[in-house]
Parts: sequence; structure tokens; C-alpha cells
Amino acid sequence: MKKIVIFYSFEGDTKLIAENIAQTIGADILELKPKEDLKSKGIMKYVWGGKAVMMHEQPELLPLDKDVDSYDVLFIGTPVWAWSYAPALNTFFSAHLLSGKKIALFCCHGGAKGKIFDHMKEVLKDNEILGEIDFKDPLKNNTDENIEKVKKWAENIMETL
Ligand SMILES: Cc1cc2nc3c(=O)[nH]c(=O)nc-3n(C[C@H](O)[C@H](O)[C@H](O)COP(=O)(O)O)c2cc1C
Repeated sequence: MKKIVIFYSFEGDTKLIAENIAQTIGADILELKPKEDLKSKGIMKYVWGGKAVMMHEQPELLPLDKDVDSYDVLFIGTPVWAWSYAPALNTFFSAHLLSGKKIALFCCHGGAKGKIFDHMKEVLKDNEILGEIDFKDPLKNNTDENIEKVKKWAENIMETL
């Protein structure tokens, strides 16, 4: 079974988790990078990023160097933005109408993940969802423990296949 970890990360937390999943299960990895990402730092990033989510924006992404459709198992991760997934995933989901895949979901947040997994499951409803896991700012909080946690989770998911 071909495996891939697909993620977007603005400040590195989701990237940390994504890289550890890929390393643990020996999966390929694909980072979604908008051609023009959020420029704002500080409080303004929430304003502009939140607006992008509310407006269902689909930022143009840099070309993907993997053939997503050729994979059977996908781990998909995002930071929580305005209680949902980041706009880069919106672009990705629109461009790749995934169906019949086995998919595990992960996210990073600051303490309020809202219904992000429900939103992701809705757009991925034609797939089998293997599991979900979330982390609170893992670069700042209990980094080593969070890495152990995600490694175990990814291993457990793979054992169910
Ligand atoms: C535009 C924007 C909106 C955010 N909205 C939320 C939110 O609704 N709930 C929350 O818990 N954290 C929110 N955060 C915090 C991030 O989800 C959190 O810091 C996450 O760990 C960042 O992941 P990253 O480093 O991979 O970008 C938001 C951050 C940004 C930049």
C-alpha cells in the first residue's frame, strides 16, 4: 500500500507532526505551499487568516511534486484556522476529489479545535476515515511527549490495515 502524509503548516507545528508520521511509517510527504502565504504576524494573522477561511478562499498552490491519486493511505494535516482547516487544504480538496482512500486526520491548534474534523470528514465523505488526532501547539508544549504520542498513533493506525 502506498502511503503519503499531506499537510499545510504556517508556523511549523503541523510540519513537526507530519514529519514524524512520515518517518514512523515510511511514508512519502507532501507539503502544500500557497504561492502567496499569509504575510501578517501577531494579531493581524488571525484577522486575515480567519477572513480567508470564512470566505472559503482557495489560494493558488505551488505545483505538487507527488501524484496524489496513486496513493492508497493518506494522512492529512492542518493547523486549525477559525475552527476549521486552513485555506490551502480547501484548494487541495477542490483540486483532488478524493474517493475510496483510507485517510487519517491530524491537526494542531491553540486550544480550540472546534469542529475541524467534522468539516474535514464532510469534504472527505467518500473515503474511509481511519482515525484523528490533535495537538496543542506542539512546538511550544511538551514537544517530546507529543512526538511520542503521534508516533504511537501512526503505528496503531497502520496495524489496523
Ligand atoms: C489565521 C489563524 C487562525 C487560527 N485559528 C485558531 C482557532 O480557531 N482555534 C485554535 O485553537 N487555534 C487557532 N490558531 C492557532 C493555530 O491553529 C496553532 O497555533 C497551530 O498550532 C499552528 O500550526 P502551524 O504551526 O502548523 O501553523 C489560528 C492561527 C492562525 C494563524
